Amino acid sequence: MNETNNINSSKWKLTRRSFLRYGFRLSLLSLIGFGFAGRNNLVTEYYTLEFKNLPKAFDGFRIVQISDLHASFWVGKEYLDQIVDSVNRLPKDLMVITGDIITGSVNDFWKRWLPTASGDYISTVIEALSLLDNSQKVAVLGNHDQWDGMETEYRLVSELERIGIDVLRNRSRTISRGQEEISIAGTDDVWFSYDIDHALQGIPSERFTILLSHSPDVREDIKSDSTVELTLCGHTHGGQVAIPYISHHLIPIKNPARYLAGLVKESYGYTYVNRGIGTLVFPFRIGAPPEITSIQLLKA
Ligand SMILES: [Fe+2]
Repeated sequence: MNETNNINSSKWKLTRRSFLRYGFRLSLLSLIGFGFAGRNNLVTEYYTLEFKNLPKAFDGFRIVQISDLHASFWVGKEYLDQIVDSVNRLPKDLMVITGDIITGSVNDFWKRWLPTASGDYISTVIEALSLLDNSQKVAVLGNHDQWDGMETEYRLVSELERIGIDVLRNRSRTISRGQEEISIAGTDDVWFSYDIDHALQGIPSERFTILLSHSPDVREDIKSDSTVELTLCGHTHGGQVAIPYISHHLIPIKNPARYLAGLVKESYGYTYVNRGIGTLVFPFRIGAPPEITSIQLLKA
């Protein structure tokens, strides 16, 4: 009698363990499937921001931002075409790209396992971006654009310039409306040839300035008397797989709790961290959908 009970009990334990094991695998597969399906569920985020220092002529000025396209084996022409189409539909005075236009060396990681992962992703992304409408366009480089060395970096920059996208490499340019002007400055990536002083050099004091920099770490170098009132960044992917209390520990920036994604009110102006378009390493997004940002500036 005792023996029978033991056998039954051991069978029950085995069944329950199997159930948990298969249940866990099924949940994991469902989560991966969910993340894979959600990686391209594009969201457009709209903001209206007021600034006292904004020149009157720029009241209503619209900026559309995209970031972290990560053209790669996982982020192909079809998806990039869809992004360009969505950007073209939005009203804008200025279009900005805040870095990681290609994936850089991570493509090599995949080439080891998937020989088909190799490709000319600069050509892919340039072909897609060449169909952007004729509004003013500026960009900065991200860590992945600079990771593969000078040759790749220069080719990417010259191709972007060829299709009318001004790459702000530690410099600024002026945007005029009538007699009034604002400045837009951009830096190279903070891990590479970054020079914020050079980027902001020559901008008149009191001039309303927008700063583009791939990583939100740039905020640490913006002095309190700076005329930078709006800083636009990317880099974090919003965590990409946004697990509360965990994801932000994995983001390679100095203050991930503050700059994981979205709008941050600073003591002077705002920082906006865009969640990006593509994905890095794995083609999943959970809780951090890809994003196009539309920001309208208003005179306070
Ligand atoms: Fe990125």
